[in-house]
Amino acid sequence: MIGIIGAMVSEIEGLQQEMTDTEITETGMNVFTAGKLCGRDVVISVCGPGKVNAALCTQAMIMLYRPDMILNIGVAGSGDKSVGIFDMVIGTAAVQHDMDTSPIGDPVCYVSRIGLIEIPCDDSLRKNLREAAEAEGIRCHEGIIATGDQFICGAEQKNAIRARCTPLAVEMEGAAVAHACYMHGVKCGILRSVSDNADGKAEVDYPVFAERAAAETHRVVKRMLESML
Ligand code: ADE
Repeated sequence: MIGIIGAMVSEIEGLQQEMTDTEITETGMNVFTAGKLCGRDVVISVCGPGKVNAALCTQAMIMLYRPDMILNIGVAGSGDKSVGIFDMVIGTAAVQHDMDTSPIGDPVCYVSRIGLIEIPCDDSLRKNLREAAEAEGIRCHEGIIATGDQFICGAEQKNAIRARCTPLAVEMEGAAVAHACYMHGVKCGILRSVSDNADGKAEVDYPVFAERAAAETHRVVKRMLESML
């Protein structure tokens, strides 16, 4: 089974509408829809924004469904000038850019317990995502995705994150999904379509471009599921 998690309804509903044989399970405030998509067994959920929402949803999904892999999909701000609006960023690893226990001797962004700064994404899943995105004619980048509990909309904020982890994209859930997956030995993939430049115009661009950007990720996920049959 493949798990798919997005933060917002708009990041998930396009896929959910195409599922068949669906069965809904609720636990806490998380709602899981299991069923078939493109011939594959999938379970889908909207986790809500932010790292805690994402980690709780991922953990619950793993406990309930024991998926072989979990994909975090959705939109993101660009983390680098090489990455434009509607480009796709596929995570090689994710970093919690707002994690900082450096005053007590740890490196910046170090996540204790799992003992990592860069939380890895699965290589074969990344390759499958890239092939699917390129087959859909979408410009793709692979690299670090920075996750934190802020919507990034200014040069100062973005530059501070860039100084920490040189990301290609900034968003609010990927590293938390990867963290929960890592703790359970579940493969993780992160696929993000860029909706804004995380700059002073981000709050204007995001509502204009997010819907189409989310739809781009749905095309890629469906293409990948079909190719995995
Ligand atoms: N998701 C989409 N755009 C974002 C931004 N600028 N910051 C954080 N998360 C985002």
